[in-house]
Amino acid sequence: MLNFDFYNPTRILFGTNTIKKINDLVPVDARVLVLLGGESARKNGTLAEVREALGTREVHEFDGIEPNPSFETLMKAVELIRAKKLDFLLAVGGGSVIDGTKFVAAAVGYEGDAWEILETRGSKITHALPFGSVLTLPATGSEMNNGGVVTLKATQTKLPFSSNLVFPKFSILDPNKTFTLPARQLANGVVDAYIHVMEQYLTYPVDGRVQDRFAEGLLQTLIEIGPLVLDESADYNTRANLMWSASMALNGLIGSGVPQDWSTHMIGHELTALHNIDHARTLAIVLPANMQIRRAEKRDKLLQYAERVWHIVEGDEEQRIDAAIERTRVFFESLGLPTRLCDYQLGAKDIDEIIHQLEVHKLTKLGERRDVTIAVSRQILEASL
Ligand code: NZQ
Ligand code: ZN
Repeated sequence: MLNFDFYNPTRILFGTNTIKKINDLVPVDARVLVLLGGESARKNGTLAEVREALGTREVHEFDGIEPNPSFETLMKAVELIRAKKLDFLLAVGGGSVIDGTKFVAAAVGYEGDAWEILETRGSKITHALPFGSVLTLPATGSEMNNGGVVTLKATQTKLPFSSNLVFPKFSILDPNKTFTLPARQLANGVVDAYIHVMEQYLTYPVDGRVQDRFAEGLLQTLIEIGPLVLDESADYNTRANLMWSASMALNGLIGSGVPQDWSTHMIGHELTALHNIDHARTLAIVLPANMQIRRAEKRDKLLQYAERVWHIVEGDEEQRIDAAIERTRVFFESLGLPTRLCDYQLGAKDIDEIIHQLEVHKLTKLGERRDVTIAVSRQILEASL
C-alpha cells in the first residue's frame, strides 16, 4: 500500500428531517449567504425549509449558479459577499452549487486575480469562508470532499482545484430532497459515482485490500440500485443508498494509499467545456474506450474487476477483459447514458480540437503512471467514436 494522509473534517447529517439541524450548525450571529442553482430548490420547497431553519439570522440569497458553474457567475457572488460583509455560506443544490460555493469561499479573501486559484489548482488558497451544504443531487461527492471544478466561459476552460480549506463544515444529506430529480440527473449521478470509484480502483494493484473491497462494494451497490433508482419512483431507501454511495465514492477514503487515474475525468471536462455535454455523460463516453486502449497497463485490475464485480470467470484472460468492458458499457447504456461520441453528433473531425484543449491546459501526462500522453488521449477519443 502507498503512504497516505487521510483528512476529512466534514460533518454529515444524514436522513429525514435533517435540514432543521442547520440551526445548531450555523453560528447564531452569522451573516449568511445561501447559494442556489436555477429554480429547483425554490420550486420544491427545499429553500423554504432552509430559510426556516436559519431562523432570525441575517440571510441573503444568490441565485443562478449554472450546471458546470462559471467563474463569471461566481465572481458576482464574491462581490455581493464583499459588499454585504457576509461571513457564512450555505450551498443548496447539486455538485455545481457546492463546487461554486467552495470557489466563492476561497475567492472572497483572495488577493490578486481569483482565476489564479484555478490556474494553480487551489494550491495558493490561504483562507476561505466557512460554509455548509444541503445536497439535492447525489453524484459528485462534493458535499464531503475538498475539490471543485469551475469553468471560464470566455475561453471554454474547465479546471479542477482542491484545498483542505474548502471542505464543507457540514453537509445535510436528506434523501427525500432527491425526489424531484429528473431521471436524467439520477442516472447521471449513478454513473458519475461509479466512475469516481473506477478512477481510484482500476489502476494497478498495491495490495490495498480494504480499498479494493470497499471500491468493489460501492460498484456492486451502484450496479444493483442503478435500475431501481430509475424504475421505482421516489423510494427512500434506494435514494438513501445512492446518496451514501456517491459520498463515499469521493470522500478520500477509497483513494487513500492507492494509485489514482482521473484521465477519464480530464478528457471528459474538455468535452463538457467544448460541447456542453453533462459531466457524467462525458465520462460514460470516455471510460469504456479508456479501458480498451489501456488494457495492457491495467490488466491485473481489469481481471480483478471482471471477476469480483461482474463475476466473469469463463474464457481466457483477454475474453474476460473484453466481457468486463462490455458489461460496463451496457450498464451505462441501460441507464440511458450513450457511450459513443457519435451519439452526440461528434466525429473524427472534432478530435483535433479536444486534443488541442488538453495541450493548452497542460493535460499531457495523465493517468496513474502519467503515461497518458496526448497520443494516448487521441487513441482513447478515436476508440470512443
Ligand atoms: O439548477 P437547478 O435548478 O437547481 O437544477 C439542477 C441542475 O439543472 C438540477 N437539480 C439539482 N437538484 C435537484 C435538481 N432538480 C430537481 N430536483 C432536485 N433535487 O440538476 C441539474 C444538474 O445539477 P448539477 O449540480 O450541475 O449536477 P451535478 O451534481 O452532477 O454536478 C456537476 C458538476 O460537478 C462537477 C462537475 O464537473 C460539474 O461541474 N464535479 C465535481 C466534483 C467534486 N467536487 O468532487 C467531482 C465530479 O467529478 C465532478 O467533476
Ligand atoms: Zn465526476
